[in-house]
Amino acid sequence: MRLAGKKALVTGAARGIGLGCARLMAQHGCDVVITDIDLPEANRAAESLSGHAAIKLDVTDRQAWTCAVDKASQLMDGINVLVNNAGIIIPGTVEDLDEAAWDRTMNVDLKSVYLGCQAALPVLSRSAPASIVNIASISSMIASANFAAYNAAKAGVHMLTKSVALHAARSHPGVRCNSIHPAFVDTGMVDQVANKDDPQVSRRKLARQIPLGRIATVEDVAWAVVYLASNESSFMTGSELKLDGGVSAM
Ligand code: NAI
Repeated sequence: MRLAGKKALVTGAARGIGLGCARLMAQHGCDVVITDIDLPEANRAAESLSGHAAIKLDVTDRQAWTCAVDKASQLMDGINVLVNNAGIIIPGTVEDLDEAAWDRTMNVDLKSVYLGCQAALPVLSRSAPASIVNIASISSMIASANFAAYNAAKAGVHMLTKSVALHAARSHPGVRCNSIHPAFVDTGMVDQVANKDDPQVSRRKLARQIPLGRIATVEDVAWAVVYLASNESSFMTGSELKLDGGVSAM
């Protein structure tokens, strides 16, 4: 019960990494509100955790953030963990990516974190000790020709995390902010970037790029979120946690 007494809002938690994090956090005594743009799937996810609520939240929408933070705060009597997890990837080089794809990636992957931190900081402050965990990517540090927008957005999340951490340290005592940087994780997002192959073939191909010889599971990421959400990491803020199977060590 490493998160007993914690109250978390997780974005993009209907499936994938967000759902894996919500599940492990709940197992560790955390009250969790699952949010996603896909409400039916978020409801199914919340039912699978039993005793936890779901709220519709499009992370690119400022008004939706205000409503979701209010509602989650009422449901749980405060919020002291915010996991900014929702994200998309639209592959494309700087030459072939159209402007709409660029803007969409920036909005969902980067602007969302700005909106979420802005909306939640006053509530987190009242429920401190509190922690913001931003799911960035190893793509914030290692570029691919075909991930122009994703690389740029996740690099933005990396640095925004540090700015939020420094601001919170000064203006919201007890509120921390850190980022997590996974390499490939076994979710639907992997199928989007490698959809030309059979899913198992593409996973094996990706695994060959990782020194540890496999891609990550959602639980690999969830354990890091549990640590950063808990008071175990109380001296950690403005930091990045790489979960990349050794890729960035090469
Ligand atoms: P996923 O595609 O399995 O799940 C993403 C979730 O976000 C979905 O439930 C989707 O409905 C939701 N979502 C999308 N747009 C949204 C919006 N505007 N508002 C609210 N919710 C929205 O993806 P996955 O793999 O679980 O990714 C989660 C996070 O982890 C993302 O930020 C991603 O960039 C990051 N990540 C993923 C890696 C991977 O290999 N799967 C590697 C490194 C980072």
